[in-house]
This record gives sequence, C-alpha cells and structure tokens, in this order.
Amino acid sequence: TARVNVRNFSIIAHVDHGKSTLADRIMERLGAMGERDKRDQTLDTLELERERGITIKSTPVRLTYVRPPQEDGTGGESYTFNLIDTPGHVDFNYEVSRSLAACEGVLLLVDASQGVEAQTIVNAYLAIDSNLEIIPVINKIDLPAADPEGAAQELEDVIGIPAESAVFASGKSGIGITEILEAIVDRIPPPPGDPEAPLKALIFDSFYDAYQGVILFVRVLEGTLTPKQPIMLFNSGKTFDVDKLGTFTPGLIVSDSLPAGAVGWVAAGIKDIHDAQVGDTLTQKDRPTPEPFPGFKPAQPVVFSGLYPTDTEDYRKMRDALEKLKLNDAAFTFEPETSEALGFGFRCGFLGLLHAEIIQERLEREYDLDLIATAPAVVYRISLTNGTIFETQNPAEFPTRDRISATEEPYIKLSIMLPEEHVGPVMQLLQERRGSMITMNYVGKRVELLYEVPFAEILYDFHDRLKSISRGYASMDYEQIGYRDGDLRKVDIMVNNEIVDALAVIVHEDKAYGIGRKIVDKMAEVIPRQMFPVPVQATIGGKIIARATVKAYRKDVLAKCYGGDISRKKKLLNKQKKGRARMKQIGTVEVPQEAFLAVLSTD
Ligand code: GTP
Repeated sequence: TARVNVRNFSIIAHVDHGKSTLADRIMERLGAMGERDKRDQTLDTLELERERGITIKSTPVRLTYVRPPQEDGTGGESYTFNLIDTPGHVDFNYEVSRSLAACEGVLLLVDASQGVEAQTIVNAYLAIDSNLEIIPVINKIDLPAADPEGAAQELEDVIGIPAESAVFASGKSGIGITEILEAIVDRIPPPPGDPEAPLKALIFDSFYDAYQGVILFVRVLEGTLTPKQPIMLFNSGKTFDVDKLGTFTPGLIVSDSLPAGAVGWVAAGIKDIHDAQVGDTLTQKDRPTPEPFPGFKPAQPVVFSGLYPTDTEDYRKMRDALEKLKLNDAAFTFEPETSEALGFGFRCGFLGLLHAEIIQERLEREYDLDLIATAPAVVYRISLTNGTIFETQNPAEFPTRDRISATEEPYIKLSIMLPEEHVGPVMQLLQERRGSMITMNYVGKRVELLYEVPFAEILYDFHDRLKSISRGYASMDYEQIGYRDGDLRKVDIMVNNEIVDALAVIVHEDKAYGIGRKIVDKMAEVIPRQMFPVPVQATIGGKIIARATVKAYRKDVLAKCYGGDISRKKKLLNKQKKGRARMKQIGTVEVPQEAFLAVLSTD
C-alpha cells in the first residue's frame, strides 16, 4: 500500500472520558473483531488493567478503512489505519509522548458532560509538542448532562483548538463514528519519509516473549526494515540481526518488510529489555541514520520503596518474581536491601505511585507473595561538607546533620482543573504542600491552576485530599521539573525504645514535626495491644519530637481472650495469620503493614 493511504494516529483523553469504548467502536466498525471474541475493552490486555479500568500497556492495531461512496462521487479507496494506544496515567507520560511520536495525528477526546480536565490539557500539549494534527472529539453526547458546544468552547478557550473543528460523538451509541473516520482520512497527513533512506525507526513500546526475546514496537520514520538486516540501537549502541518483523491486527502478523511510515513489530533475538529501551532509535548497522529521533530518555524510576516478604523463607521466590517482572519492564528496578527490622528484601524503583502499586499487586497475585512495603520516597540530592554530592532515596543513607552542607528535593509542575467554587480550599491545600503558584486561568466557571510543588508533597495522600475537598471535581496531572533547595531531615521512629530502620522517612524541615506526629499516632492506633504498654516515638537526630503509646490490655480483657488455653490461643493466632492483616515481628511487638505506610494515611 502506498504511504499516501496510511494514517497513524492515537486517541488521547482524560481518564474515563471514553477512550477504550471509542477505540472499541472504531475497531468494530472496521471489522477488526467479531462479536464472538469481543471483550469488554479490547485494547486493555493485562488482567490487572481490566480490573482497574486503566490502560498500562500500549497495543497498536492495524485497521483497514474503505471509504463509503461520497456525494462528490469519490469513495471506495482503501486506507490503512494504525491505531496506537497510549497509557492513560501520568506515571507513564514519557511512554505517552513516545507513542505520540509514532503518529501524525490524534483524536483528542473530551467527555461532553465533564469538559476539559487536567489530563486533557497535558495530553493535548504532548500532541502539540509532537506537531500532531489534533481532531477534537466531544464524546458521550448521548448523556443527558452533555453540553457538547460548551465542551468544544472550553477546548478553544483553554488550548486554542477551534471549537468548530470538533466532531460530536458517542462511543457508546455509535454517533459520529463515520465523521471521525472521515476526519482521520481528511485531516491527518500521511506519514512522510523516504523508504530508500538510511533506516531510522522509533521504538515506542516493547514486551518480552519467552521464545523470541524482546519484541519491539516500532514506527519506521525513514528507510525500510527487512528480515536478516543488521541493526543498531542508537543510544545503547547494541547491535542485532533482525529475525522477524510484521504488523498488528492486534495479534502479531509476520510480513516481509516495514517501509517508512509503517507501524509494526520487530524481533531480533534481544534478550535484555534494557538494551532496547522505549524512545531509542533503531538504525541500520552499516548505514546508520545521521540523526537519531530526538528526546531519548532512559527509563528512570523516581519513586522508591522497600519491599520485603513477610515470610523470610520467600526471599528467593521473591527474587525470581522480580527478575521476571523486570524482563518486561525497563522502568522498574530493584536491588537487595537488608533491614534490621524487616530482614532481607529489596529496594525497588518505580515511575510513580501507580506503577509501584501495580508491581506490588502483581507480585502478590501472580507470584503468590505476601509483602511488607515501606513508605515511598523520592530521590533527594545531598551535598556533603567534604564537597561530595550524591543522590539518595533511602533514609538509611541519609547522613548526620554535621556532614551535610545542603539538601535539594525534586519538584513537579502540577496542573489542576476544577470548578471555581473549590478554588479557595484547593489553594490552601497547595500552600500546606509548599506549592507556589505559576498561573491561574479562568475557563468559564472553571479554573486551571498551575503550581510548582515538591514531588514528595504529592506522594502522601495529595490526590485523595484534592478529590475530597473538591467533591471529586478536581483533576490533576504533573511533570518533573528538576531540583530546588529544601532543608531536609530524617525522622526516625522508635517502637518500644528501639529504632525501627524501615520506618524512617526523609522529610522537609517544615513538615518534620507534623509527619512525626502523624506516624506515631497512626502506629499507636494500628499496632495491636500487647501485655505491656508500648511507647512509639518519632525522633530527629536523637531528639524526641512526638510520642504516643499503644496501651496494654486491661486484665479482664486478657483473661477473657486468652484463658491460658494453649489450643485456643493457637487457633486465634492462626486465624490472625489467615486474616488480611500482615504483621512483622519487631522485637517483642507485632507491627502490621499499615504501620509502615502510616505516613501515607489520610487524616
Ligand atoms: P481509561 O482507560 O481509564 O483511560 O478510561 P477510558 O477513557 O478508556 O474510558 P472507558 O472507555 O473505559 O469509559 C469510561 C466510562 O464511560 C465507562 O463506564 C463507559 O461505559 C462510559 N462511556 C464511554 N463512552 C461513553 C459514551 O459515549 N456515552 C456514555 N453515556 N458513556 C460512555
């Protein structure tokens, strides 16, 4: 097929604005699947994704669109559509930007009853940065509360996309699908590129296959990919020979070449996913492209947490599970870590909190592990009095005060969209989180707030607080913007007069007392009562800043509970073990999982 008849596009939207439903409807219209194998959300593959209703892994689909007869006498031409899915969460924004770089255009979906939200704006700007043609689609117009004209006007006011260019549609009822397909043909340009030029292909996703090794998802920008071709990865410098290649339907179909403009997959006997990362440029070994695709960033975790098996016997099993997960996820890192309190475990790095939750859940579900997770931490930069500068996310590596000359913390640019009546409380929340305003824009009765905020401040319950004070109406998105000075302290936690290393946190000085207080209160609440009172204290450099006590059982309660009957005690213990509460024995005290995440608790 000639390139002029190819359209590469993606659908971008705020979460829940109907991306999967619309993609499904388009595929159904183009006969990509029979009713029989039609599942709820075809593009979302992993089981976990379906349960959470979010998209983690992108899967492209190749579709054929034959234009129906038109009034002007044209029609009947056949087009190849490559629909490239994008992950729908801020943790995966870099992957979103790479997926977009594989396209010439996007459908920008906006829920007609919700209007423009934070992710609508961030995604639209990602598309604009990639010079893509944007087709605004006002979706869910079948809803009684829909205000399609209002939503289109918001797009114009906030992002500058002309309201009259919007297509009104409903993925659910099928309204507007024909118009969308025509707009894709008319407005999105065919892919440029010379199939004779030196090979240049962008890797926008990958997965690990036990038989073929790493399968790369590529967009060929220049030249032609063929089997047996010796290839080189521009940024990693690694070389391979192409084994097989092909396209998606969405299953993998083998073909004999991928020319400029094509979207497809390549297997080249790559064993390690880190050798061929998303964003890297694939080129011909003996005839390399003069310039790689710009903007490559190696996957870099920004949130870290310790993961420990509750049962120390599971350490090996856990290591095997982590190895397997890492095969498929270049962004996830882990290294062994030892804690006095928790024993042998791993320090793990993630792209964000959601990524962390997903990995944790997969470890527990797919690998049948019980885990204790320590509080998530960001990466701090510390300058020592001896001139050394180093980065760490691990409270165990935080130096004593006398060795530190300066500390810095990572910041984000946070974008929030919300109804104007909630602006006051949200601004107050942002101030509590040490945010500083960049701009505030009115969009009809809604407001867009742009703030610079320390990244650590949104790790701890920020999203929940934002949702609750805005009655669920505020939406947010963010991007990393580098380091700023911040006076940091390490808060240690003592249980029964012993420091529990795994409970330590690094926090800003302004927050140290409040967080210390919060942790000890929460711990006193969740640690089960013992035979004796258990003091819980927060300290900085040995100085106590907060304390609470886990009260002892009263005598009569004890008598009732454990009448000295051993078998009964055992039964109770077993029952506890089976229950959902995961405990870790620390000295003589059993500490439940919640205690390790006390810093995250919402008050
Ligand atoms: P993420 O994958 O989490 O980003 O969500 P999404 O944007 O893919 O949204 P999804 O397609 O899962 O739809 C979200 C909800 O909106 C679901 O409950 C859908 O049934 C509903 N929905 C989607 N499209 C329409 C529509 O056109 N009309 C109506 N009334 N509801 C819709």
